[in-house]
Amino acid sequence: MSAADVRVELPDADATREYGRALAGVLRAGDLVLLSGSLGAGKTTFTQGIGAGLGVRGRVASPTFIIARVHPPLAAGPALVHVDAYRLGSLDEVEALDLDTSLEESVTVVEWGEGLLESLAQDRLEVSIERPHGGLDAGAGENLDPDELDAAAGTRTVRIRAVGTRWAGVALPVVG
Ligand SMILES: Nc1ncnc2c1ncn2[C@@H]1O[C@H](COP(=O)(O)OP(=O)(O)OP(=O)(O)O)[C@@H](O)[C@H]1O
Ligand SMILES: [Mg+2]
Repeated sequence: MSAADVRVELPDADATREYGRALAGVLRAGDLVLLSGSLGAGKTTFTQGIGAGLGVRGRVASPTFIIARVHPPLAAGPALVHVDAYRLGSLDEVEALDLDTSLEESVTVVEWGEGLLESLAQDRLEVSIERPHGGLDAGAGENLDPDELDAAAGTRTVRIRAVGTRWAGVALPVVG
């Protein structure tokens, strides 16, 4: 574990948003954040916090069906490009979408499937979001309505691995 790597426990969705907001404080144009975690782990919730911290326009929601959504900055600062990587082969495909911004002038946050953190770029933050106790048993979700699924939610363990020279000497936020 390099000096920059951190592990935090986030008890609820608000705590996860708050941590994302704090992380935004160290993000700048050109940065790439890869979020891994199973379905419903909290990747979009975390991205909402990053969006709030960056001060960007629009509600950060699941980017499903659109691959990537641009949230322009409300004032000075980078845009947020929020990417759903499930159907994505590489970041070049995002550049090819002809977004209203380039990745160099944006903070790019990619919601990635579990265990798919192949390197896309030299410099990146790899964020994994997990339920420490596994959360729901496999298959249990099929018989629960959405409210019950929410009730089964709870603490997430977030680990961040900082890769590349961009992150040398950068202190990531810690909580608790
Ligand atoms: N500590 C927590 N951190 C984040 N979300 C939490 C936490 N506790 C409960 N939740 C709930 O878990 C759900 C997380 O959903 P979210 O859409 O953020 O996950 P996701 O990883 O983006 O899912 P998907 O794989 O569908 O994209 C939300 O309903 C949120 O309120
Ligand atoms: Mg999501």
